[in-house]
Amino acid sequence: MEPLYLRSAGVSLLVDLSADEPAILHWGADLGPALPDLGVLGVLGGPMPNSALDSPVLQGLLPQASSGWRGRPGLRGHRMADGRPGTDFSARLRIADVHSDGTSAVITASDPDCGLRVVSMLTLHDGGLLEVQHTLTNDGGTDYALAELAAVLPVGPEGTEILDLTGRWCRERHPQRRPVQQGCWLRSGRHGRTGHDSALLLAVGSAGFGNRHGKVWAVHFAWSGDQEAYVDSVADGRTVIGASELLGSGEMVLAPGESYATPALFAAYSDRGLDDVSEAFYAWFRARAQHPASPRPVVLNTWEAVYFNHDLGVLTELAAAAADLGVERFVLDDGWFRHRRDDHAGLGDWYVDSGIWPEGLHPLIDAVTSRGMEFGLWVEPEMLNVDSDTARAHPDWIAGPAAEGGRLPAEWRHQQVLDLVNPHAWQYIYDRMDALLTEYPISYLKWDQNRDLLEMGHAGRPSVHEQTLAAYRLFDALKAAHPGVEIESCSSGGARVDLGILERTDRIWASDCNDALERQTIQRWTGMVVPPELVGSHIGPATSHTTARTHELSFRAITALFGHFGLEWDVRSLAGTEREELRGFIALYKKHRALIHGGRMVRADLPDPALLLHGVVAGDATEALFALVAVSTSYSEQPGRVCIPGLAADLTYRVELIYPAAGGAFIQSAPPAWLAGGAVASGRFLAEVGLPMPILNPEHAIVLHIFAPDRI
Ligand code: DGJ
Repeated sequence: MEPLYLRSAGVSLLVDLSADEPAILHWGADLGPALPDLGVLGVLGGPMPNSALDSPVLQGLLPQASSGWRGRPGLRGHRMADGRPGTDFSARLRIADVHSDGTSAVITASDPDCGLRVVSMLTLHDGGLLEVQHTLTNDGGTDYALAELAAVLPVGPEGTEILDLTGRWCRERHPQRRPVQQGCWLRSGRHGRTGHDSALLLAVGSAGFGNRHGKVWAVHFAWSGDQEAYVDSVADGRTVIGASELLGSGEMVLAPGESYATPALFAAYSDRGLDDVSEAFYAWFRARAQHPASPRPVVLNTWEAVYFNHDLGVLTELAAAAADLGVERFVLDDGWFRHRRDDHAGLGDWYVDSGIWPEGLHPLIDAVTSRGMEFGLWVEPEMLNVDSDTARAHPDWIAGPAAEGGRLPAEWRHQQVLDLVNPHAWQYIYDRMDALLTEYPISYLKWDQNRDLLEMGHAGRPSVHEQTLAAYRLFDALKAAHPGVEIESCSSGGARVDLGILERTDRIWASDCNDALERQTIQRWTGMVVPPELVGSHIGPATSHTTARTHELSFRAITALFGHFGLEWDVRSLAGTEREELRGFIALYKKHRALIHGGRMVRADLPDPALLLHGVVAGDATEALFALVAVSTSYSEQPGRVCIPGLAADLTYRVELIYPAAGGAFIQSAPPAWLAGGAVASGRFLAEVGLPMPILNPEHAIVLHIFAPDRI
């Protein structure tokens, strides 16, 4: 059979179909329109060393021991025979059918002896993002217990360094690197949610790969439940990268005729570093029909302003102050519903607390909407406090390891998980959310989820998989019933950031940490996959509530600028000139949000770790907005010339300092002269020679507006 060859945006995928098993020969650079004769080259399986199999070992689409693969297998599972487990433990999947339309392909492989069939969908999207998804069907006559079905891709021979992300509450998406060595680098997520420490992006690259240089093979697994992502470097010299759902013991048993579909693995290849990986993800996001198209409104979220102290008078004053500043969406956070005076009680009782809100939420919503702002509401539908009317009435709705009435999992933030696999519980929570959205003009839900799903079970059996799908169904049903409502995915800050949840939500809350210094890292790395228009990014109070660090407004605002901008601060009493300064930053965001939310992300590879330079360049490269950020003091006396990459080499640009305004003071006797009147230079000059930059105090930043005067 002819090979399967997909090409898009400088990327190609080549699957050899000449043997009876589909084998991925290449995922990486575009190989051009014509391929050599693969049979003559002998590239399928490669040469055979001594003391090895007597036939070449294919790297199958699902790597299998039946073809000699001794790395991590793509499929693990078994049947029961005569009451004993273990039969059909090793499948020999062979091509049954192939369909391709040039950009995507459906490959069916089956093993009639084992009674198993796998349909694999491979799609190379327009921006070069590859999507891989498998569906396994039990064609046999008995139950098949599935342990793992993985999506796996080969990494090119130059891939020698692993980069992935990890983290914790308030420090999500922290990068870590290590060399590729023989063995498996495995990232397991057993949180029942995506997790603060989730990899988000797992990449293998050429030595020293950076933001704008080097080859990179990177994957993201679009799933909000338990999962594993790995790089497996096998003794035969091959390295693969992949991911799978981490299924609980006995969780996935397929009756005859039943199927299991993997979440999608998204994979990006770049020969120009991580910025291009981001570009492939951004292009995919932005091509979706449901991608937010309206300007992303300036948000004020009440959490760090008032916490649980809900008071109509205070909140009305806050709404008035917010509207006066130019805020466009006012979000009432946790604390508005029955029994919810702190985080010990109330989750599940989704009725407005009549003690705090005798006339319901209407007076506050009127105060918000009459000032031209949208109203948003915090909810946490997937959770219960044991101290709630709902849990008291339905103790069987609490998910746990035992069948009804048994031991409960350890509490976390005084809460348990609502068993959404129980149809009554699911319907109750749907009805309550639907009722709120019907009664009130709510434009936006901040949908929170504040604990790991430990010992997650339904009817005494593991249920993270079903719970995750039931939660997805809840989002989908509410979205279908209330199509205008936007939803934010929040999970103790940024513990649910993945493409599974983002298919049904409109932004993520990247972190509960509003400290701008921490946010520089959190947002930079979240932005490797998620475009800035989907990343909630707020200005908090001067002294951060989660780190006690103090920052000037400009540093907080310039940090928030490169996301979906908002405030999380009691702005009723701003000090000195702060109100005018904040108004100015809000106006700056509004002026440039179309650019920030539609352009290409550029992150320079600067030699000095004290400095970050990032920006967004318009698709036609006629305009850009950059921030130069000092994250610490530098070992150098001065930054010298800083190269500004990512612009069009042959366009002539004007570079203007827009914050601080021209003439602003820097800590040097003579700051670079161009700061006063702007600079004119080609994109090539800016990228290769750069411009001298002022010395910045640590935890300070400046903003540059760069544009081609002839073109805009
Ligand atoms: C955790 C979220 O991340 C916060 O932003 C806030 O909404 C609290 N939950 C409310 O309980």
